Amino acid sequence: MAEETQYRGVVDVFKWWLFMATDIIGELSFGESFRMLEAGEVSNLLDYEPDININIVMQKTQYSLDLEQVSALQPIRTTFPTLVNLGKYLPLPVFKRTMACGKRMGMYASQSIDRYQRIMAENPSDPKKTLFTKLFDTEKGGLPLNEIKKEAQGYIVAGSDTTAVTLTYLVYAVCGNSRVRDKLVAEVAALSEPIHDNDLRNLPYLNMVISETLRLHTAVPFGLPRAVPSEGANFNGYFLPSGATVSTQSYSLHRDPIIFPDPYNFNPERWENPTKEMKDIYIPFGGGSRICIGLHLARMELRLGTTMFFRKFPNARRSNKEGMSEKDMVMRSFFLMAPEGHRCLIET
Ligand code: HEM
Repeated sequence: MAEETQYRGVVDVFKWWLFMATDIIGELSFGESFRMLEAGEVSNLLDYEPDININIVMQKTQYSLDLEQVSALQPIRTTFPTLVNLGKYLPLPVFKRTMACGKRMGMYASQSIDRYQRIMAENPSDPKKTLFTKLFDTEKGGLPLNEIKKEAQGYIVAGSDTTAVTLTYLVYAVCGNSRVRDKLVAEVAALSEPIHDNDLRNLPYLNMVISETLRLHTAVPFGLPRAVPSEGANFNGYFLPSGATVSTQSYSLHRDPIIFPDPYNFNPERWENPTKEMKDIYIPFGGGSRICIGLHLARMELRLGTTMFFRKFPNARRSNKEGMSEKDMVMRSFFLMAPEGHRCLIET
């Protein structure tokens, strides 16, 4: 980020958070990082040093483009699965693009799992452990290879954009309010190196800032559907018939003005002494048996990413260079939310 600032005068934090979150989920799922951070650096340098190996840049750039598109294209896949499969015959670019992007995401996951299998075969007694290691053991409740590949694809999508979008809005919100920024900077600057997540779990203001970001800018603001069980259900005086789909979503719940007074205001202090109602209605990671499986990992990334960022860039502020404006940061949600401009330029 510091290097990009040197070349460009601004840094696009959305891009770097996406590279970071993708590398982390790659390493944890497949035993090896996708090395997006290194490749991103190369693609930045390309503007200034055109002799750099273009093949590496192009290959990695396609991957990051696919990742960026996935949040917008995934709902099309789930809403129109048949049409997407017919994408190659239909004269509609959106279905063609969705199909091509989905295939490439499947390919990345498949290649990564194949590579991890090779790593395991090289060292069967003590393979590098990943989130999937146990699943390869079909005798102990593991999954067939094709299902592991599907899960892996899900992890790439669920674990990268969500975290990157949250960190992006966190930086943007904090940089737009010097009082909040200075308070956060003072807290994280007082830590001594090396910094471990254990030091951050109970850091008061850092965690309030994260909670407030997840309230106003949750990466999944949309309905989370559930099917009513076969016997039907009574809920709050209403009978819900068997098989009906019900859903709830964080966007409006998190803006309830009775529970969150002045709800559109980014105010971390509201989390100083949260009421029971605030805790009950707060669902950035969903709830119940299908609650986000990566929430602890996500919180860890949010704590560490925020701390490192504001220790390194205590004077970070919003930029209006390159035409950057609030319009770029309008939240666009199809299912996963992302900033409309797909960028967030910050001056450090
Ligand atoms: C700030 C970051 C994140 C947010 C806001 C977020 C949010 C969510 C939400 C709202 C759901 C749906 C829950 C429900 O239906 O009740 C979900 C599901 C899921 N998330 Fe996350 N997530 C984040 C990060 C991650 C990470 C880092 C991973 C990595 C493994 C991950 C993996 C998953 C998976 C696998 C599911 C599906 C769980 C299931 O259906 O049983 N998420 N997430």
